[in-house]
Amino acid sequence: MKSVIAFTTILGAAVAQEIAPPAGSFVLGAWSPGSGLPGSKINANGGSFWLGKDPSSSCPAVEGLDCTAFPGTRTVLVGGNDTLSLDVAVPGGQQVYVGPNGALGYTPPHSSYMPTGSVTTGFHRFRSQSGGAPVVMNFQGNSFLACPDATNSGVYQIFAHLVVTDGGNCTFFQMRTYTAEGINAWQY
Ligand SMILES: *[C@@H]1O[C@H](CO)[C@@H](O)[C@H](O)[C@H]1NC(C)=O
Ligand SMILES: *[C@@H]1O[C@H](CO)[C@@H](O)[C@H](O)[C@H]1NC(C)=O
Repeated sequence: MKSVIAFTTILGAAVAQEIAPPAGSFVLGAWSPGSGLPGSKINANGGSFWLGKDPSSSCPAVEGLDCTAFPGTRTVLVGGNDTLSLDVAVPGGQQVYVGPNGALGYTPPHSSYMPTGSVTTGFHRFRSQSGGAPVVMNFQGNSFLACPDATNSGVYQIFAHLVVTDGGNCTFFQMRTYTAEGINAWQY
């Protein structure tokens, strides 16, 4: 039987003092010293977010559309004041959500589809007054987890919380955001 494990962590909890984050777009990084997580760049790929995968960005072959303006080499986001989106050029945008299984996900291009029970609010980006004043992001007051992908060694999927029987191999990390130029991709 499935049980719901509610993880909370010191990394995400009890932020007494905070100040507004810088304006504009940003990339995501996983900060977890000593955890052995690969690299630090979090990328959007196939509707989910990952460490150890490149972005699954694309640009359609449409007459008059200059795809050199959309290299898609980085995963850039905007928002973090309750809602969160990928910073894209595709009409309609791409919204970030937390799925019913706790996974961080995003809507496909030209679609608002997300699984029933997904949550699109509760993202909170702010500059912490501790640890060198990093600009961090929480979801509903908690930090995020990276869970090893069952089929790809060195690849970790990003979750906001877990609905699993055994989350023992997942690693909590502090989601840090870094100001970045957007738009980098037409779509992810
Ligand atoms: C976040 O949204 C609230 C409500 O719309 C607004 O009052 C606040 O100024 C916003 N904060 C930032 C940092 O943009
Ligand atoms: C956790 O990692 C151990 C050691 O690699 C492995 O034996 C176990 O199956 C993993 N558990 C899950 C739930 O993936």
